[in-house]
Amino acid sequence: MKHFINLKDIPAKDLRKIITDAKKRKLARKNFSNLQIDRLAPLKGKLLIQMFEKSSLRTRLSFYLAIKQLGGSTLTLRPDELHLSKGGESIQDTAKILSNFGNAFMLRTDDDKKLEEFRKFLSIPIINGLSPSSHPTQILSDVFTVEEIKKKPITNLNISWIGDCNNVLNSLIAASIKFSFKLTIGCPKNYQPNKKILSYVKSKTNKISIFSDPNKAVKDADVIFSDKVISMNDKVNKKNKLKHFRKFKINMKLIKYAKKDCIFLHCLPRGEEVDEKIFLSKRSKVWQQAANRVHVQKSILLYCFGKLR
Ligand code: CP
Ligand code: NVA
Repeated sequence: MKHFINLKDIPAKDLRKIITDAKKRKLARKNFSNLQIDRLAPLKGKLLIQMFEKSSLRTRLSFYLAIKQLGGSTLTLRPDELHLSKGGESIQDTAKILSNFGNAFMLRTDDDKKLEEFRKFLSIPIINGLSPSSHPTQILSDVFTVEEIKKKPITNLNISWIGDCNNVLNSLIAASIKFSFKLTIGCPKNYQPNKKILSYVKSKTNKISIFSDPNKAVKDADVIFSDKVISMNDKVNKKNKLKHFRKFKINMKLIKYAKKDCIFLHCLPRGEEVDEKIFLSKRSKVWQQAANRVHVQKSILLYCFGKLR
């Protein structure tokens, strides 16, 4: 049994194995309908329990299809209906019950410590479905999408991030270290990653650089990533923050600095950080990106269950 909490704590060879498995599984499902079960139904009889403390559309749906396609089933808990959220039950006791009734637990939380607490008391795998500090299932799936579209290993590509230094970027940073790809980050000076992340980056790689000039950050990029400037539960002066990010909007003018065949990716939902013209253009692969989450999350589930081939 393996947990899937942060990319930085998972060996690179395991992350690569997950992507390779997802490629094979996606190929094997050509012409399958959404609920058709994969050959051998490797997770037959298994229950994935999901809980979202924050909104979700894609993560919820993609985990639903992922476990179903592997032959298992899923149940989504509403935190406001549990004793836990009202302080009427501990994480320790909740985790014991989850471990008795379910076979894996996917948690989207507003508190990283909760993931660690649950991990301590669960005897089933826990998957991080987004936390304030990371969004690992999203980024692993995005590595898959980049390689699928570009038809080369991500290590040979220039990846650029324009936008807020948030949970999704933290996972992209971890991926850059694990998969050894060049990552250029473009953000306003006063919104750079915090000191802890900067010193982590410095100790691990020289392939990541940060620019306060967005044109420099996207220079020769094969892929431009972005995300909402204001994340869920971001406790900032929103107007002020949006103002600082105005010159970091992804538009036709900016994208000219990237490679001619540069693609645009965004985990969604989107805000004003990308111009409609780019978002709806051929360069934008956001729908393929979202759809791929099912495939990669299936392989993440198999990894957690120790069933990755
Ligand atoms: N990208 C993503 O995680 O979307 P949801 O918040 O809708 O799950
Ligand atoms: N950074 C965003 C990602 C949403 C999928 C957030 O945390 O709200």
